[in-house]
Amino acid sequence: MGVRRVGEKLRYVKVDIITIFPRLVDAGFGEGIVRRAVERGLVDARVWDLREFTDDRHRSVDDVAFGGGPGMVLKPAPIFGAVERIRRERGDPPAIILTSPQGRRFTQPEAERLSRLSHLVFICGRYEGVDERVREHLATEELSIGDYVLTGGELAALVVCDAVIRLLPGAVGDERSVEADSFARGLLDYGQYTRPADFRGLKVPEVLLSGHHGAIRQWRRREAIRRTLERRPELLGSASLDAEEQELLRDLMEERKGANHGDKRD
Ligand code: ADE
Repeated sequence: MGVRRVGEKLRYVKVDIITIFPRLVDAGFGEGIVRRAVERGLVDARVWDLREFTDDRHRSVDDVAFGGGPGMVLKPAPIFGAVERIRRERGDPPAIILTSPQGRRFTQPEAERLSRLSHLVFICGRYEGVDERVREHLATEELSIGDYVLTGGELAALVVCDAVIRLLPGAVGDERSVEADSFARGLLDYGQYTRPADFRGLKVPEVLLSGHHGAIRQWRRREAIRRTLERRPELLGSASLDAEEQELLRDLMEERKGANHGDKRD
């Protein structure tokens, strides 16, 4: 998994989002790190209201499904029209992403891949469906943010944008926090503490107050591995662990085996 280096050259990404809920998408770009990235010119974001690309009096974006069945399907013409306009005004995008539960699962490596592209177009699907011709002849890829069904693809597109934008050089105040993402190495994060050292009798682990940087580093690595082993052991298969971490993992697994035997005897 590629981790970005501190000091990497600043670049900017164009983002176009096609939606029937433009205000919802605007709100997602209006706060925090994402907003700051837009203000700093790292992200050039445009939100396109799908209804602007309809040509009937009712500005209808959907219609009944051929073959019958419940629910409405997003029509192809407005979506193709929006992408054609984007191509004309903003250039030919390397990625046109349809958000839907049928898509490939969005993960941190996917965020890193997308963060290296210069222009991302999102087509926000609706849960009832999107005309298959959009999927087959317009979108270059289809992404899902997880195995659950949202009412629409807007929140999914915002999730993807958020994860991508924070990876852009200059988006996050202290770049080390992105580099230290344990997820970048396929592990969960260790626990973090701040002042006070004693909160209502709940103490911060002694080692973190010790000032011994080596010991702190070791404790954190062990905690990240312990958490991953306990909560998401399947991640360890593809995590990039150095020799010392592999040894920590072996120790922790031994410890657990011991504890399990103990449980059985009790
Ligand atoms: N639209 C509805 N559900 C979704 C999901 N899980 N991921 C991406 N887009 C969606």
